[in-house]
Parts: sequence; structure tokens; C-alpha cells
Amino acid sequence: MERIQNIYKVVGNEKLCPQFWRLTFDAPQMVRSVKPGQFVHIRTGGGLEPFFRRPFSVYRAQKHVEIFYEAVGPGTQLLSQKKKGDTVDVLGPVGTPFALPPEGTKQVVMIAGGIGIAPMLILSDVLKKKKCELVLLYGGRTRGHVYPMQEFKDGGVKVFVATDDGSVGVKGRVSKLFDKIKKDPQTTCLYTCGPNAMMAAVQEFAARCGLAGQAACEETMACGLGACLGCSIRTKHGYRTVCYDGPAFDIHEVIFHP
Ligand SMILES: Cc1cc2nc3c(=O)[nH]c(=O)nc-3n(C[C@H](O)[C@H](O)[C@H](O)COP(=O)(O)OP(=O)(O)OC[C@H]3O[C@@H](n4cnc5c(N)ncnc54)[C@H](O)[C@@H]3O)c2cc1C
Ligand code: FES
Repeated sequence: MERIQNIYKVVGNEKLCPQFWRLTFDAPQMVRSVKPGQFVHIRTGGGLEPFFRRPFSVYRAQKHVEIFYEAVGPGTQLLSQKKKGDTVDVLGPVGTPFALPPEGTKQVVMIAGGIGIAPMLILSDVLKKKKCELVLLYGGRTRGHVYPMQEFKDGGVKVFVATDDGSVGVKGRVSKLFDKIKKDPQTTCLYTCGPNAMMAAVQEFAARCGLAGQAACEETMACGLGACLGCSIRTKHGYRTVCYDGPAFDIHEVIFHP
């Protein structure tokens, strides 16, 4: 039986733009089993600090597994020091993946803010086989939060960017890009990941236009396996854990907190 926790060899760790890094590790079994929206729970340090593992969405799973991260605190800073040939202690893949779009979907719109872009590349890799139009609306704070996103474009994804300061793309929030898409409830399906305020705006937009959608939620985690309930969020059906019931939820079910 496949183990859920393993030590994997680092294949690469590169800075893609001033804010974001990509870590690649060699995990052939995980490449075969992981689904879009699932995450890996990584022990970032060798000692007791940081005590808890840190969750990262799987960004891509082709030859190797890739995660995409922002060095924001002690765990991700330690991760950024990993070199080719080092090892990483990884639990996963874990969590409930995105549900794939319903039959008849012709346009899939991915709406991501900042590091919320992380689960979207693996999703587009799977969806491009379904022959629907793929669109990415990406919102970043400033130029340092935008990278070329060539892998998306190479996969036929139409990419639109907004930045808070207008340094790349349209000036303003990602909601400024909503006019770029078709809004037919029968054929359009949304996927979103990013700050709660952004996902709340996407939820409101989806409700107004009658669109189906999924949200990949984030919450600070401890066990990552549904045991401690530390990552619970409110939904219309009561509390649910992000690590086990999610990260992917029906966008209309989640009660987003600010
Ligand atoms: C399911 C899931 C998937 C994730 N995927 C990614 C990913 O692909 N790439 C990535 O860079 N990050 C991702 N994250 C967030 C990442 O796990 C956290 O930012 C992590 O805590 C960073 O560890 P750190 O030790 O560097 O910083 P910490 O010291 O843990 O945190 C630094 C700062 O970020 C805040 N913070 C920590 N966790 C979160 C969170 N979940 N949401 C909002 N603020 C937070 C803290 O309050 C603190 O201010 C994901 C989180 C979840 C729950
Ligand atoms: S982190 Fe323990 S239940 Fe989710």
C-alpha cells in the first residue's frame, strides 16, 4: 500500500519572480494519484521549529510534483533554502479535490488572487483535455506578484491580469476583469482561490450571474488530516474542515470571513 508520508528528493527550487518560488520534488506515485485542488503538507524544517507542517497546493504533477509558494514566514523561508539533491518530508496528497465541471461546460474561468494561483495550473492541465475554453483572471498586488505564466499560455489558457497599482495589466482588483468572460449559466463554470475578500466577491458575482463554481479555501492548519478540527470554516451546512472536507468547496456553500 502506498504510504501517505514520504521523504522525497528535491529536483529544483527556483525563484520565478520577486515574490514567488517553485519547488519541484521527485514523487512518481504522487504524480499518478494527485488531483487538482489537493495539497501536500510539508515539514519545512529539520528540527522542532516550525513545529507544524505547512500546507501547499499541488501546482503541477507531470514528470515531478511542483509546488508554488511565497516566502512569507519561517516555514516558507526554510523551504526557499532547499537545493537540488536535498530532501523534503511530505504528507500527501491530501484533501478533497475540485469537482470537475458539469457536462455541457464550454468555458472554465479560473479566478486567482496572489498565491491563490497555485492550484490552477494542474487544474488547467486536466481540463485542457476536455476541449473547453480556459480563461485565467489573475489579480496581484503589484509587478512583483506577477510572473510570465507561460505554462498557462502554452496550455491554451487566455490570461488576463489586474494589479492593485496598475503596474501590470488593468489597474484595480481582479473583479475589474469580470467583463472579459461569457456569463452563460448553462456553459460557464468558475474556480477560485485567493484571499477571502476576493473569493467573497467571486461568490457574489457567481450568485448574481447564476454561475456554478468551486472555491479552494485556505485556513491555518495543524494535523492536515481532519483530526484536530483546527482548520474548520463555516459553511451553509455547518462547520467543515479545510484539510479533509476541502480545500475545494462549492462556492455557494462557503461563508467567507473577512
Ligand atoms: C490548503 C492550503 C493550501 C495552501 N497552498 C499554498 C501554496 O500553494 N503556496 C503558498 O505559498 N501558500 C499556500 N498556503 C498558505 C501557506 O501554507 C501558509 O502561508 C504557511 O503558513 C506559510 O508558512 P510560514 O511558516 O512561511 O509562515 P507563517 O508564520 O505560518 O505565516 C506567515 C503569515 O501568513 C499568515 N498565514 C499563515 N497561513 C495562512 C493562511 N492559510 N491564510 C492566510 N494567511 C496565512 C500568518 O498569519 C502570518 O501572518 C496554503 C494554505 C492552505 C490551507
Ligand atoms: S488541520 Fe487538523 S482538522 Fe484540519
